[in-house]
Amino acid sequence: MAFFVHHFCRRFSTSAVRNVAIKHVTVIGGGQMGAGIAQVAASTGHSVTVVDTNDDILQKAVKGIEGSLKRVVKKKFADKPEAADAFIQSVLQNVSTSTDAESVVQHSDLVVEAIVENLKIKQDVFGRLDKAAPAHTIFTSNTSSLPISDIASATNRLDRFGGLHFFNPVPMMKLVEVIGTSATSQETFDSLLNFSKALGKTPVSCKDTPGFIVNRLLVPYMMEAIRLHERGHGSKEDIDIAMKLGAGYPMGPFELGDYVGLDTLKFIMDGWNAMDSENQLFVPSELLNKLVAEGKFGRKSGEGFYKYK
Ligand code: 3HC
Repeated sequence: MAFFVHHFCRRFSTSAVRNVAIKHVTVIGGGQMGAGIAQVAASTGHSVTVVDTNDDILQKAVKGIEGSLKRVVKKKFADKPEAADAFIQSVLQNVSTSTDAESVVQHSDLVVEAIVENLKIKQDVFGRLDKAAPAHTIFTSNTSSLPISDIASATNRLDRFGGLHFFNPVPMMKLVEVIGTSATSQETFDSLLNFSKALGKTPVSCKDTPGFIVNRLLVPYMMEAIRLHERGHGSKEDIDIAMKLGAGYPMGPFELGDYVGLDTLKFIMDGWNAMDSENQLFVPSELLNKLVAEGKFGRKSGEGFYKYK
């Protein structure tokens, strides 16, 4: 009951809501998700710094943003190449890079972390940033499956810590899951909702539960497709065709697994299985484990369930 009252008050407090105006965003991690988040933030007029451990990764991130922007402008500025170029340049001007996270966060309103799914590494990063960032800076993680409250526990800003979960490919997927822990303040939560809207996305409110909403439904679905195939009840190709043409999904479960990354899928499943080994939805798959052990992670490694050029 006490939990409920606390939660109710936090979410539905009628006291004046002070949203932090988010102007500068630090994105920690220049991988596919980090670059996508940076691109969308920069495209909507935010000043963004992408931070990673070395310049090669950062250069690749900027190249990825440029490549994705070229796809975006094809439709947006069809037959207007000069306007398309000007748009790309204006977005890129909003993006800077750095290998020094502690310096960057000193003038940042929001930190979005999109690095490897390792709790200890995330805690270490946030513990360091907590000492360097101003009091008003909101910290968020784009984790797929780790509890936000566990990541936040490395900091002294539990009220200014939440989750912002984006979807791949970030420039195309309209959803952002906004996650509040029991300690996230109403002001922080509202700022994150408003920031998501400012990005042109539709936010949904999530509790800090495993997989939030989308992955909690999508990952067991993909795993059951793999098990169905393992039982010999359908080929990968037929299952993919069936879900695209019979359920209207843009990708079949095997195509989507390769797109998301089989290592990511396995990481999520193993974590949930360790948490609740009795749950049949969380039973690991031998085929998935074998592919990951062979380094077949999907599109990013050139092979997963399918081969890619
Ligand atoms: N940047 C910019 N534009 C892109 C893009 C990118 N990275 N990827 C695709 N596009 C654009 C294309 O340029 C194309 O634009 P056009 O219509 O103007 O020509 C449009 O998107 C459609 O692309 P394609 O023709 O290449 O292919 P599709 O029609 O199949 O669309 C897709 C691609 C948008 C990826 C679509 O297949 C899709 O929605 N797939 C499902 C993706 C999904 O479910 N993502 C969520 C995964 S779960 C997750 O991320 C959570 C994590 O925690 C695991």
